[in-house]
Amino acid sequence: MEHEKETFSGTAGARMYDEEGGRIQAHGGQIQKFTVDGVERWYWIGEDKTDGYRPCGGIHMYSSDDLHHWKDEGVILRTMQSPEAFSEDYFQALYGACPEEEKKRIFIDLDRNNCVIERPKMLYNKKTGKYVIWFHADGRAPGCDGDYGKAKAGVAIGDSPTGAFRLLGSYKLHYHDDPDAEYGFDGWENRGSVRDLNVFVDRDDTAYVIYSSEGNRTTFISRLNESYTALATEPQNAREGVDFTRNFIGGFKEAHAMFRRGEDYYLIQSGCTGWSPNPASYAIAKHPMGPWREMGDPCADKGRETTYDSQSSCVVAVDEKRDAYLYMGDRWNENDLGDSRYIWLPVVFLPEGKIALPNMENWTKK
Ligand code: GAL
Repeated sequence: MEHEKETFSGTAGARMYDEEGGRIQAHGGQIQKFTVDGVERWYWIGEDKTDGYRPCGGIHMYSSDDLHHWKDEGVILRTMQSPEAFSEDYFQALYGACPEEEKKRIFIDLDRNNCVIERPKMLYNKKTGKYVIWFHADGRAPGCDGDYGKAKAGVAIGDSPTGAFRLLGSYKLHYHDDPDAEYGFDGWENRGSVRDLNVFVDRDDTAYVIYSSEGNRTTFISRLNESYTALATEPQNAREGVDFTRNFIGGFKEAHAMFRRGEDYYLIQSGCTGWSPNPASYAIAKHPMGPWREMGDPCADKGRETTYDSQSSCVVAVDEKRDAYLYMGDRWNENDLGDSRYIWLPVVFLPEGKIALPNMENWTKK
């Protein structure tokens, strides 16, 4: 089969194109397999940065049979130029029934000239048959001029991985209930803040959201409800250690990528240096909510001080039986974000639960 010979460019960081020759816009993304209408395919969700940081391009989807050839499935969560867009057919179909107050809230999260939509991740819910997107919803909002002051989790729902997705809203999540505790630059006023986030579904179908909070000092892991559309327990009723856990307190980690191998849960993360890369770290646990044992830097080769110029976005279990797991990272280009590259590497499993990310160019999958 000709496809088997194809390579991943790995740390060479070649540009990636879809089948039509368009540059793939799926940054901060995630790949997973879905069966849609009886056909199993890979789906790659990510940030559309066609216009750079802003105007915000929303969330883009691609699909593939082999992880090499990608079909452009279009923008599945669209942003809006102005509130007048609610009268367009596309937005009318999604939000026509919403009261005006809700439309105002939705516009703030989808306002392409002010919003920030980062690190989108998708979940398929077997019970409801719906697809749910979680993303870092941020940007300028009334009373908040900064790009990262809103600090919420956005949730959208759709009937198919290719959309269209309807935004349900954006939310603060769990917080440590102590006004005197250390909340970093967020302060107690901005408790429950959410910046870099990811999701994880366990084999028992329980889903979790993993997010940086407390001014990015702490990694929270919270259980989602049965439909994956909200937290299992509202923040005001949640108990730390039961409904959510606080991990790596004061560790300043982001770019969370959780995966499971056998009975072990892994979490790869970066440090917090914006678009500039830094060394990765990983931890291992026996439960998605921890406790986590810190294992150090997964990168063993030259270039490890920048994770080979990448920042984690996801680890894909490509073929668990063959131990084939794929690390997906972003090589951000701060001066031309739309030209940021995708760095994909195999995860190597070593004795005693250790892993390694090798510095590999133009590699083939096993
Ligand atoms: C990174 C983060 C990205 C983006 C960027 C903005 O640390 O992982 O998703 O938010 O900061 O500077």
